[in-house]
Amino acid sequence: MTFTIKVNGSTHSVDVDGDTPLLWVLRDVLGMTGTKFGCGMALCGACTVHVGGEPTRSCITPIDSIGSSEITTIEAIGTTAAGARIQKAWVEREVPQCGYCQSGQIMSAAALLASKPQPTDADIEDAMAGNICRCGTYARIRDAIKQAAS
Ligand code: FES
Ligand code: FES
Repeated sequence: MTFTIKVNGSTHSVDVDGDTPLLWVLRDVLGMTGTKFGCGMALCGACTVHVGGEPTRSCITPIDSIGSSEITTIEAIGTTAAGARIQKAWVEREVPQCGYCQSGQIMSAAALLASKPQPTDADIEDAMAGNICRCGTYARIRDAIKQAAS
């Protein structure tokens, strides 16, 4: 079946089964490999993108549930005001280690800052709780979000 989706401001028609996860449409059909596969079960946050502005686990989001909602991925998050501030802080704080989890971390952090420009520590904890980092970059992630918010 053909689905028409809007990703990072561009419209794409993709011919896939309706239950195909958005993650695989992005990576395998559209070639946008910045969004990562970790667990495939909404447990790690590596696959986080924005759907209609909301942080969304693309590994469990079937393409037929997207409708007309606009999708933003790590490839374009720097074009948003909150995303640009988050990316700048990420670089200045040297947040990533191996980097595998980081696109998901940035997408969750950018969604937080877009909805709460001055997040409290509790807001940060809540927003980032579902994003796992095996390298343990959590302290630098928190510092970078605070820097981006200041
Ligand atoms: S790959 Fe989607 S949450 Fe882990
Ligand atoms: S930077 Fe390596 S898993 Fe997070």
